[in-house]
Amino acid sequence: MTAGSGAAAPPAAGLEGLVAQLTSDVAKEARRRPRVTISYAQSLDGSIAARPGEPLRLSGSRSLELTHRLRAGHDAILVGIGTVLADDPRLNVRLVAGDSPLPVILDGRLRLPPSARLLRSRGALRAAPPPLVATSFEAPRERAARLCAAGVTVLRFRSPNGPLPLRSLMRALHRRGVRRLLVEGGGRVLTSMFAERLADWVVITVAPRLVGGEPALARVPAPVDLAGLGWARLDDDLVFAGRPRFGARRRAAPTGREA
Ligand SMILES: NC(=O)c1ccc[n+]([C@@H]2O[C@H](COP(=O)([O-])OP(=O)(O)OC[C@H]3O[C@@H](n4cnc5c(N)ncnc54)[C@H](OP(=O)(O)O)[C@@H]3O)[C@@H](O)[C@H]2O)c1
Repeated sequence: MTAGSGAAAPPAAGLEGLVAQLTSDVAKEARRRPRVTISYAQSLDGSIAARPGEPLRLSGSRSLELTHRLRAGHDAILVGIGTVLADDPRLNVRLVAGDSPLPVILDGRLRLPPSARLLRSRGALRAAPPPLVATSFEAPRERAARLCAAGVTVLRFRSPNGPLPLRSLMRALHRRGVRRLLVEGGGRVLTSMFAERLADWVVITVAPRLVGGEPALARVPAPVDLAGLGWARLDDDLVFAGRPRFGARRRAAPTGREA
């Protein structure tokens, strides 16, 4: 692995050291939410999908293996329902040894199909726990009953016709023993997590492709710098890891004419 670290002091341990840190035990941390790692793959021009709701394979085999190591080093893995409907991911650990994390889906209308692959653990060395679906009180009861019959835990949150409240979800996951949460996407969920400043670590794989598609991040209220940056080249991909530092929130654009 070709690896390096940013100029920040103290020097980062390179990608391997950072991955060891971000998957380490957090039992002693006294906070009311899990430690959050955000991880995704993007093209050189910042796309995570070619078209809305379509899958796009970006990671090479070595960076995909890193993704599975990250999964094995976290207690739960969060994605939005858009990702489930587009990619039908299994969200389990298959390429390395280790336990599969608890799958958590943000799904305000309970669109998760009972045929989704994440409801089965095929290919995993060790079975993943049955998924948890976060939804709204308005979501249809019959869909909830069908998912519960398939082993899914349905947690309802107050979110009248809006996005689900992420901080309440974080507290609920923490109460259930989740201490390390991996967030894999898609774009809407990544944007919400950054907007709510719910990120302790970021791992971004950059694949040498130009896609001109859907951006990883839409508008976030403040720029995010990565501190203590570590990076590695994994075949043709570059992987960056660091701790986000959130900048001041942007002011609304002035409405009047500038003097
Ligand atoms: N390159 C990568 O690493 C990567 C990883 C994952 C996904 N992807 C790609 O990303 C695309 C899917 O992204 P997406 O933006 O369409 O969907 P998404 O982020 O996976 O899911 C978004 C949906 O989650 C629900 N949601 C509920 N509460 C939310 C909240 N607080 N914040 C955000 N979402 C919330 C909403 O649906 P309801 O209104 O129904 O609740 C929302 O439309 C796919 O093309 C997939 O292939 C790429």
